[in-house]
Order: sequence, then structure tokens, then C-alpha cells
Amino acid sequence: MITNWYKDAVVYQIYPKSFCDSNGDGIGDFNGIISKLDYLKELGINTVWISPCYPSPQKDNGYDISDYDDVGREYGTMEDFKRMADEMHRRGIKLLMDLVVKSSSDEHFWFTESMKGKDNPYRDYYVWKDPVDGHEPNDWQAGYQISAWTFDEKSGQYWLHTFIEGEPDLNWDNPKVRQEIYAMVNRWLDIGVDGFRCDVINLIAKDYDSDHIGDGKHLHEYLHELHENCLAPHDAMTVGEVYDLTPDEAFEMVAPDRGELSLVFQFEHLREGRIDGQRFFMTDFNAKNFVDTLAKWQYGFMGRAWNTLVMENHDQPRCIDRFGSVEYRKESAKMLATLLYCLQGTVFIYEGQEFGSINPVFRSLEECDDCETKQIQDHLVELWGMEGALKAISLDSRDCARVPVAWDGSETGGFSDGKAWIKYNDFRHEVNAASDLADENGVYRFYQKLLSLRKSKRALSRGNFELIRNDEDGGVVYRRYIEGERDIFVVLNYSDKENAFDFSSYKGELLLSGYGDIPDVMRPFECLVFEK
Ligand code: NOJ
Ligand code: CA
Repeated sequence: MITNWYKDAVVYQIYPKSFCDSNGDGIGDFNGIISKLDYLKELGINTVWISPCYPSPQKDNGYDISDYDDVGREYGTMEDFKRMADEMHRRGIKLLMDLVVKSSSDEHFWFTESMKGKDNPYRDYYVWKDPVDGHEPNDWQAGYQISAWTFDEKSGQYWLHTFIEGEPDLNWDNPKVRQEIYAMVNRWLDIGVDGFRCDVINLIAKDYDSDHIGDGKHLHEYLHELHENCLAPHDAMTVGEVYDLTPDEAFEMVAPDRGELSLVFQFEHLREGRIDGQRFFMTDFNAKNFVDTLAKWQYGFMGRAWNTLVMENHDQPRCIDRFGSVEYRKESAKMLATLLYCLQGTVFIYEGQEFGSINPVFRSLEECDDCETKQIQDHLVELWGMEGALKAISLDSRDCARVPVAWDGSETGGFSDGKAWIKYNDFRHEVNAASDLADENGVYRFYQKLLSLRKSKRALSRGNFELIRNDEDGGVVYRRYIEGERDIFVVLNYSDKENAFDFSSYKGELLLSGYGDIPDVMRPFECLVFEK
């Protein structure tokens, strides 16, 4: 039986390498996570999503998995993993694993077998195609000017990797592959995992004669199979990572009667401030467009499916730098949280977001670790020179949110006793969990209040949505409403200037306020929540 527990999930994403290191080797681990569970529980979350913690050669920071049935020793043993899961469950926290089955690592046994030749029983576990007119089978790209196909001299065929070469795409059209995956998913569910975040899930099905990678004609059939074989029997929650879909297309995967996924991520607003949504190519951020896009998805799913509320993850820079203001760090962190988490949907918070983390500064290319940055860095230097390239990387690279969480203001930010696998955040001495917690008006305390408010007000957790105003100068008001409850009005000044807009008609009982009181004139990044 599938229940709707995903609707009330408040999910905290842990990027395990960067969260907390318990043994001084510079890599976060399961024991480190256990040591922070009380901190997370108090924040008000009830679900953890842990990014891949499987064995991996780390060409894509763990998303390249070489064994789906084990955990990476750098994080601990399987016993440690189970203890971590138990410690979560004991606190009423559910655990989502990252399910990365679009591709495996090139060091996975299936792929090393597959490479051995056309007759190998694992050959068809991956996508192999003959050349077409001496060329790649199609024009698919795996990043900036890089073909998604690599030629294998030995067999005279191409194999597919829709991202880096270290991640060959699994062939979902092979029923044996699907059976292997369902069995593996069930083994994790039997261990006690409660669900999955499903990596680029619309890329599992492909039509090779289409220009577009992913969303192939068998997508819904495969998702339904996964649901029937694994998810439904375990009442597991899923959230699919998908990009560039309209609300109607996304709805196809989460329509309650279809039996596919519980949720898909809504990422369209994260394109704002990038030219054509392209990372590193920045243009002026427009708050009004940002809010309009959020509203579009609220309306798009209203009454028929459930949204996700997300602003940060391990692939995105910090929201304060992109959508708020480092100058008004705490104020904008609170306003962004209010804007997003008073909407309808399931909450997703990325590690460090809850105390207002900001991007580090990358001062040389050697400081970068991310494979995607490495693919494009020479091109960025060609375009803008070293200074311009590093500026873009510091603003928009995936490493921005992957540096260790700063737990305190010490040299290692309290993350480790040693040198971390990647640089520490330059701002850890001022921006860290301990100093934020010491501030009654800090960001963490605000998140706490906001999450507890969501829980106590049905209009917020279940209600409908209406955008009332979204002005060029940052005045934003929306309403959440449900029968039998008073309306909730979210009133924001999404700007770094004072704003004299008249919000008196939305005033009621004050439930939440970023500055702690009600102003006459809205201050920079002011946020107010009223019930009326
Ligand atoms: C999406 C993940 O979020 C990202 O980190 C990873 O690089 C790609 N999938 C490729 O697996
Ligand atoms: Ca460690």
C-alpha cells in the first residue's frame, strides 16, 4: 500500500563527503552524520536524503557507482551504515538513498565485463551502437563540445555516456538490467531504507533517433515497473531528478493514479539569472521572474499533484549568493526560506542552508574539484581570461556548495581534525552553525520556527495558492487558503531597498517575521507571515 507520507516529509540533503568527518581523514562519514542527528532533529526535519555513499572511484564525486550493494569504506562499514539508519529511525527520521541507475561507474564489474567484447553476457547491460557512416550514431553531447559516444577500437562500436566517460549509460531496454536494478532496490528497502532520490530519472529511457536525450517512449512503463516491483510493496517515497520539463510533462510522472514516482524536483526557477539557464553564463537576476516561475508550478500542480520546494543542492551554488544578497545575508536567507517554504509542496533543505551558508571563493583552477567545471574551465578562460573564469566558477560552479559544512569558526570549521578533500569555505570564521545558533535571531532558529509553523497550519501544509502581487520593485504577496481555516498571507520585500508598499490589507495575527516585528516601511528582504 502506498501512503502519502512524502507530502509531510521535510527532507534534509546530506552530501556525505562534506558533512562531518569523525576520524580526521578529511572525508565526511557515517559516524559524523550520527553525531549531528540531534541538531537535524531539532531543526524540524523528518527525512534525510544522503547523496551516494557507495563504493566509487569518485570521478563524479560518488555519482559514479562501482558497487550498488555496498557502501564506500571512506564513509564507514555496512555496520556503521545500518547503525546510522537505526539512529535516524530511533529519532523518527526516515532515510532516502540516492538511486543512480541512469549510469554506473566505468569500474563497475558489469562494465568491465561489457568492455570485453560483443559476446560477453554483460555486453547489452550498456548501450553499444555501430558507427553510422563512420561516425557517432547520433549527435548527442555529454557536456561542452564533447560527444556522448566513445569509440571502442577493439570491437569497432561506440558506447554511450550522457555525462562524463566515467559514467557509461545502463541499457534499460534490456530486461535483465531492469531485473538487476529492481532486485538491488529491494535489497536496500529490505535493509530499512525508506525511499530514493532518483538521479536524472527521465534519462533512463531513450529514443536513439531523437535529438533529445531521455524521456524515451518507454519511460512511463519502466517507472511503473519500478513502482510495482519495489516501491509500492515497501511504501517507499521517491523524488525524481528531472530537468527542463513543463508542469504538464512533469505531471505525467507523478500523477497519483499512474503509480510511478511520488515527486519530481521543480528546478525551473533555478535557471533565473543564467543565460538560457546555462551554468556559468550569468545575466542580471530578476526576482519578479523568479517568483513568477515558482507561482507557475504552484498553479500547474494545484489540486492534482505535489510540488517540491528546493533552492539548493550539491549541483547548485548557495541561494544567498544567487537569489539573495551576501550583504544582507541573514535577512535574505530568511526571506528566501519564507518565500519558498510557505508554498505548497515537500520541503528540501541542503546541508548548511539552514544557517545561511554562502559560496567560497575559488582563487585558482587547482582549487576546483568538480568534473563538470574541469570539462569547461579552459573554455571559460578563453572567453573571459583567468580572472573572469574564476569569478564565474566562484559564483556558479557545483563546488560552491560542496566545500565542507562549517560547524564552527575554527580553522577546519569543525568539520575535521585534518585537511579536507576540498578547500574549506573562506567565510567559515564568520558564517558557521555555532555562531548562527548563538544568535536568537539567526537563520537556524528562523528555519526552526518556519518548519514548525508549516506543521501546525493546514493552510500551509495542504492549502491552495494564490499569487496576489509580484511587483517590479520587490513587493510580493501570496495567499494560502483551505476551507475551515483562516487564510495565510505571505508578505515580502524581495529587494535590498526599503519598500513603502501598503500591506495593511493583509495584516492579521503575525505568525512569523524576519526582523522580529512589524515595520511601517518594509526593510530590505523583509518577510512577514500573517493569519487572517
Ligand atoms: C545528477 C547529479 O545530481 C550530479 O551530481 C551528477 O553529476 C549527474 N547526475 C551525473 O550522474
Ligand atoms: Ca572520515
